[in-house]
Amino acid sequence: MSMTRIFTSAADGIDPATVPFRALPTGARLPVVGLGTFGSDHVSDVQIAEAVIGAAEVGYRHFDCAAVYNNEAIIGESLRTIQAGGIPREALWITSKVWNDMHGRADAACRQSLADLGLDYLDLYLVHWPFPNFHPPKCDVTSRSPDARPYIHEEYMRTWRQLETLVAQGLVRHIGTSNMTIPKLELLLRDATIKPAVNEMELHPHFQQPELFQYCADHGIVPIGYSPVGSPARPERDRTPEDTVDIEDPVIVEIARAHGIHPATVCVKWAAQRGQVPIPQSATRRNYRANLQAVVADPLTDAEMQAIATLDKGCRLIKGQVFLWKDNQTWEDLWDLDGVIPAKKPFE
Ligand SMILES: NC(=O)c1ccc[n+]([C@@H]2O[C@H](COP(=O)([O-])OP(=O)(O)OC[C@H]3O[C@@H](n4cnc5c(N)ncnc54)[C@H](OP(=O)(O)O)[C@@H]3O)[C@@H](O)[C@H]2O)c1
Repeated sequence: MSMTRIFTSAADGIDPATVPFRALPTGARLPVVGLGTFGSDHVSDVQIAEAVIGAAEVGYRHFDCAAVYNNEAIIGESLRTIQAGGIPREALWITSKVWNDMHGRADAACRQSLADLGLDYLDLYLVHWPFPNFHPPKCDVTSRSPDARPYIHEEYMRTWRQLETLVAQGLVRHIGTSNMTIPKLELLLRDATIKPAVNEMELHPHFQQPELFQYCADHGIVPIGYSPVGSPARPERDRTPEDTVDIEDPVIVEIARAHGIHPATVCVKWAAQRGQVPIPQSATRRNYRANLQAVVADPLTDAEMQAIATLDKGCRLIKGQVFLWKDNQTWEDLWDLDGVIPAKKPFE
C-alpha cells in the first residue's frame, strides 16, 4: 500500500459521535458497528487496508482484526495513517485475537499483534477459538491436524490467565471469548478472575443463536456478531448444500425494498437493534458507508424486527470442521449441542 495515502474525513461521512455504543463496566464505549478485516480468499490485504482508512474516513472507529487474517502489519500502516490524520488513538477501538497455535503463548502472540498493528495497547483481545488446533491458512475443510485436541478446560484457563496478565500489564483493556458455547462459558465464568467482556459469535438472521445470545445478556457479556450479512462471499470450502442465504430471504428483501436499502444493510440494522455488535466486512465504500449509516437513521419497525426474529433457521455457516480431533466426528461435536463438552480423550 502507498504510504502517501492521506486521511481526510469524508464530507458524506457519519459523525462518529452519533454512532451508538455499548458501555462496558470499565466505562469504555464499544461502537455498535465495527469493520471486519478478514479478506478471506477474494479480497487482498491492500484492499482490506485501504478499506480500513476509507471506513475511518466515513466515521468508523471500531476495527475487528486477528493475527490469523495475516494482514495486521498492513492494517498497522492504515492505523498510522488514520492517527496521522488527526484521529487520536483513544477514539479508536481495535480488537485482535490469539490464534489457535498460540494458546499458552498469548503474551508473545499479543506483543506480535501490537507490533504489527503499531499500537501500545489493544482495546479488546479475544481467544479466537476454544480449540488449540492449528490448521494452515486456506486449507480444505477435510484437513485434520494430527495434533488436534478437544476442548480441555485447564488448557483454556492457562491461556485465559495469560490474557488476564496482559490486562494487568496495560497491554490490553478488555478480554473476551469467541466461538464459545454455554457449557464452556459456564466453566470460564466459574474460574475466571476477569470475566469476558464480550463473546464474538456467528450471528445473522438465519442463525440467531437465541439461547447463547440470552445467556450472554444475562451474564453481562456483549455479543459481537460475526458474518452479520451471512458471509455471502465466503470461500467454496466453507459452503455446504444446506446453507441458506440471508440476503435472498424474501422477508429481508421486502424490508430492504421498504427502506430503499440493500438486504445486507437490513441485516446490520437488525443486529444492532437486537443488541449485538455486528462487524460486517466490506471493501466497497458504498457498502461500508451504508453499514454505518444503518445504525444512525431509519430504524426497523417493531413489526420488521419481529418478522426477522421468525427467520432463524439454525443455519451455522462457519462450522469449524478443521478443528475436529478424531475420525468419524461431525462438526456438531464442536458446539456442545446436547449441553455436554465431549470428553477429553484425544485419538480415541
Ligand atoms: N471470530 C471469528 O471466528 C470470526 C469468524 C468469521 C468472521 N469474523 C469477523 O467477522 C467479519 C465479517 O464476517 P464475514 O466477512 O464472514 O461476513 P459478512 O460481513 O457477513 O459478509 C461480508 C460480505 O458481505 C458484503 N457486504 C457487506 N456489506 C454489504 C452491503 N451493505 N451491501 C452489499 N454487500 C455487502 C461484502 O462485500 P463488499 O466488500 O463488496 O461490500 C462481503 O463480501 C470478518 O471480516 C471478521 O473480522 C470473525
